[in-house]
Amino acid sequence: MSDRTKSFRVGLIGCGRISDIYLKTLARFSQVKVVACASLDPAESRAKAEQHGIGRSCTPDEIFADPSIDCVLNLTIPAAHAEISRNALNAGKHVYSEKPFVMNRSDGRALLQLAKDKGLLIGNAPDTFFGGRWQTVRRLIDDGAIGAPTGVFAHVGTHGTERHNPNPDFYYQSGGGPLLDLGPYYLTAMVFCLGPVERVAGMARRTFDRRMIENGPRHGEWMDVEVDTHSLSLLQFTSGVIGSMTMSFDVWDSETPRFEIYGEDGTIGIPDPDPVHGANLFDGDVWLKTKDTSRWSHQPRPAGREHWQVAENLHGLNRDSRGVGLLDLALAVREGRQPRASGALAYHVFDVMDAIERAPRFGAYQTVESSCEVPAPLSVDFPGSGPQIEQELAHAR
Ligand SMILES: NC(=O)c1ccc[n+]([C@@H]2O[C@H](COP(=O)([O-])OP(=O)(O)OC[C@H]3O[C@@H](n4cnc5c(N)ncnc54)[C@H](O)[C@@H]3O)[C@@H](O)[C@H]2O)c1
Repeated sequence: MSDRTKSFRVGLIGCGRISDIYLKTLARFSQVKVVACASLDPAESRAKAEQHGIGRSCTPDEIFADPSIDCVLNLTIPAAHAEISRNALNAGKHVYSEKPFVMNRSDGRALLQLAKDKGLLIGNAPDTFFGGRWQTVRRLIDDGAIGAPTGVFAHVGTHGTERHNPNPDFYYQSGGGPLLDLGPYYLTAMVFCLGPVERVAGMARRTFDRRMIENGPRHGEWMDVEVDTHSLSLLQFTSGVIGSMTMSFDVWDSETPRFEIYGEDGTIGIPDPDPVHGANLFDGDVWLKTKDTSRWSHQPRPAGREHWQVAENLHGLNRDSRGVGLLDLALAVREGRQPRASGALAYHVFDVMDAIERAPRFGAYQTVESSCEVPAPLSVDFPGSGPQIEQELAHAR
C-alpha cells in the first residue's frame, strides 16, 4: 500500500465480545477502516455492522473473496484462529489475529512460512505492550534505571471466567486454560522488556473436572474441564535473566498479583490490583526502587506528549486500546517493515507456553526452539503521539 492517503481496508471475522473494543479503537484512526464483518451467526454480524457503522455484513468466504480488502482481523475463538488466518493468507490478505496465535506449533510454523512465501504480514494480539505502562517499563530498563536485568516474577490468580463470561466454554477446552489465555499478556511483556526465552520448567494441575457457568442465560449449566487450570513455570531468558510465572483459574484470592522485574541496581514493580482486568490492560502504575532510594517512586507518564504514553492517552476513555497492534501492522505494510506485535513474536510466546505445558509430561526442563526479534518501542511519529494526539482524542470524543 504505497498511497499514504488510502485507508488500510480490514475485514473482521469474529463478531463476539472482544470485537467492540477493536472497533472502537480502530474507529479513531483514519489510516485503517473496517469495511466488512462476518461471523458464524449472520444475525450477530449484522448487529455488529449496524452498531459500529460497518458498511457490509457478509460471510467469511465473501471477505476472503473481496479483492479490495487488505487484511483480515481474526477475532474468532482459539480453535478457529489457524484456519481463518490460513484462509486469509491464501486469499492474499495480511492477517491480525487474537491470541493465542495457534493451538499447536506446526500450525504456527506453517502460518509464518505461508506469510513469508506470499510476502504478507501477520500480526497478533496482545498489543498491550504498546500501552504507556509497558513502554515506561521498557524505557526504564533501556535507560539503565535498574542496571542489568536479572529476574522477573509474574503471578495471576483468578477463579476463571464462568462468573463474568456468559459463554466461558472455550476457556476450559483445548486451546484455553489460564496459561494460554493469560500467559500471552505476561510473556509478551517479558519478551518486550527482557528478550526471548530459551528454556523453561513447568508444573500444572486441574483442580476441578467440571465447572458451573455462574452468570447469564446458561447459569447453572456444567462444563467439562479439558485443560490444566493452575500453571507454574520457571523461565530462563537468552540474556541470562531467570523468572517465575504463576497463571491460575483455581485461586479465589491472593495478595500477590503483581509483576516485578529485578536488576543489579534496582526493582521495577508493576502492581496488578485486579488480576482479571489489571496487568492485561494498557495502563496502570509503574514503581521503581533502586539501591540509591529508600522508598518506591511512582513512575508516572509525564503530562506532556511523550510517544510512550500513546496508547494510555487514547484509552484514557476506557483503559483498553486493543487494536493499536493492527494499526501498527497497517503502517508496517506501508513502511516495508515487520509489525511490532508480529506473528514471529506471537509464535515465540506460544512456543514458550507449549514448552511449559510439555515440561510436566516429558521432563523437567524443555528447550524453547524459536526466538524472535524484540519489538522496538513506539516511535515519536506513531499515530496518537505528538501533535496528532489532540486531534485523535477529539475525534474519539
Ligand atoms: N472476551 C474477552 O474478554 C477477550 C479478551 C481478550 C482476548 N480475547 C480473545 O478474543 C478471541 C475471541 O473472544 P470472544 O470473547 O470475542 O469470543 P466470542 O465467543 O464472544 O466470539 C467469537 C466469535 O467468533 C466467531 N467464530 C467462531 N468460530 C468461527 C469460525 N470458524 N468462522 C467464523 N467465525 C467464527 C463467532 O461466531 C463469534 O462471532 C479469543 O481468542 C479470546 O481469547 C477475548
